[in-house]
Amino acid sequence: MELLLRQHVILLLFLLTLGSGAVIKQSKEQKEAWGYVTVRSNAHMFWWLYYANNSAKNFTELPLIMWLQGGPGASGCGFGNFEEIGPLDVELKPRNTTWLQAASVLFVDNPVGTGFSYTNDSNAFAKDLSTVSSDMLVLLKEFFRLNKEFQTIPFYIFSESYGGKMAAGIALELYKAIHDGSIECNFAGAALGDSWISPVDSVLSWGPYLYSTSLLDDQGLVEVTAAAKKVMNAVNEGQYTLATELWSQTEEVIEQNTDNVNFYNILAKKSPDLKASKHENIHLIKLYQRHVERLHKDSLSDLMNGPIRKKLRVIPDSVTWGGQSEEVFLHMAKDFMKPVIHIVDALLAANVNVTVYNGQLDLIVDTMGQEAWVRKLKWPKLKQFSQQKWKALYVSPESSETAAFHKSYENLAFYWILKAGHMVPSDQGDMALKMVRMVTQQKHW
Ligand SMILES: *[C@@H]1O[C@H](CO)[C@@H](O)[C@H](O)[C@H]1NC(C)=O
Ligand SMILES: *[C@@H]1O[C@H](CO)[C@@H](O)[C@H](O)[C@H]1NC(C)=O
Ligand SMILES: *[C@@H]1O[C@H](CO)[C@@H](O)[C@H](O)[C@H]1NC(C)=O
Ligand SMILES: *[C@@H]1O[C@H](CO)[C@@H](O)[C@H](O)[C@H]1NC(C)=O
Ligand SMILES: *[C@@H]1O[C@H](CO)[C@@H](O)[C@H](O)[C@H]1NC(C)=O
Repeated sequence: MELLLRQHVILLLFLLTLGSGAVIKQSKEQKEAWGYVTVRSNAHMFWWLYYANNSAKNFTELPLIMWLQGGPGASGCGFGNFEEIGPLDVELKPRNTTWLQAASVLFVDNPVGTGFSYTNDSNAFAKDLSTVSSDMLVLLKEFFRLNKEFQTIPFYIFSESYGGKMAAGIALELYKAIHDGSIECNFAGAALGDSWISPVDSVLSWGPYLYSTSLLDDQGLVEVTAAAKKVMNAVNEGQYTLATELWSQTEEVIEQNTDNVNFYNILAKKSPDLKASKHENIHLIKLYQRHVERLHKDSLSDLMNGPIRKKLRVIPDSVTWGGQSEEVFLHMAKDFMKPVIHIVDALLAANVNVTVYNGQLDLIVDTMGQEAWVRKLKWPKLKQFSQQKWKALYVSPESSETAAFHKSYENLAFYWILKAGHMVPSDQGDMALKMVRMVTQQKHW
């Protein structure tokens, strides 16, 4: 297989010299490939594929999963790979819960400017979900054209946070492209993890969630609720930029009342105080610091800009991993607070399998907020879905500890992951891997 794979890569390199614009390298010890795709003029997107590594199964018998990180501006090739689901952790030690045991995994640094993706033109940053989706479609077309053996393998999109909103938009465009015959791909479903599908439903649930977990008193609840209502009003009036600013202010009210609760896991260590900034757009910068910069810890930056870029060899000297993430975030400011419930509805109507999963201890996208938007779906089978009894899940038959609850009806499934925060696979790796096997219909769980 190793030999075949290498021949395959040589073939790809040959194809590439015929002018695709992407670059692929393959190292001998790891079954991996990576490269750039130019998705628009001056906009270059980086992808990194790991073949599944399972002692009993060939990669051809396992699905392909694309992982989308949040932010926007946080790097899947960096954070998702080394902090969550890739084969190695940030110290380059093997991760025993890597998703490679269950699937081949494709990380993509999107939107353009994220991670190792880059642009040299400030007009080329995406400003909305439709650009994010059409850019990804260009990348996927190229990916499946170059990696033909993956065209028939079931392809799933898994995501986290803002990545879930992008996953929904991308999934719908992918579905359409498959139907109009413009891409060869065996699309099998989208999984939305702690996803920013309906921001205002998240914001409105923060107060009640923090109050019920003893992190707000009555007075604090009044203040947080008042701030959240302002966000809701701005969204209802279609004032999305204002809504983003008010969202940031609501987080500040929470920080003041909760001694800086950690937005990603209410039981984790409190969040560090934010750096003072002279930037004119202080609320946006604070959002960036809270939600993107923290995913670019020094240890990860050192790894990505040191040994990893050296190994990859294709990263231009002018590109720093994470160097454009702030700009990625700021350019999407108008889009943050727009809900995409209607897109999830369109996916369900198109019979695409949709999974929603959420960590119990996440604040930024708490489970109550997720349930609130799920209740707003127009999907005709919602009632039947809601009436299902949830089932407890255990990581193994020997375990006596409930690890999650699960419910599904036809093409919608929901996983409530216990003792996990926002980053479900880092907090509950065994349960996350089990969920991946369930979602991708692998029988041995
Ligand atoms: C794995 O799948 C590839 C592609 O179908 C095939 O060429 C190879 O022989 C398989 N390897 C094993 C060990 O079955
Ligand atoms: C595959 O996984 C095994 C552990 O199960 C590990 O020892 C090996 O290095 C991995 N191979 C690759 C290519 O990642
Ligand atoms: C992975 O390692 C952790 C300890 O580091 C252990 O608790 C867990 O059971 C292991 N999981 C698997 C699937 O081996
Ligand atoms: C970006 O790079 C391309 C190719 O080198 C060049 O043609 C273009 O003028 C550059 N754009 C900007 C805004 O610098
Ligand atoms: C989609 O979900 C249904 C219901 O759970 C399942 O029967 C089907 O196999 C799933 N399809 C894929 C491609 O995962």
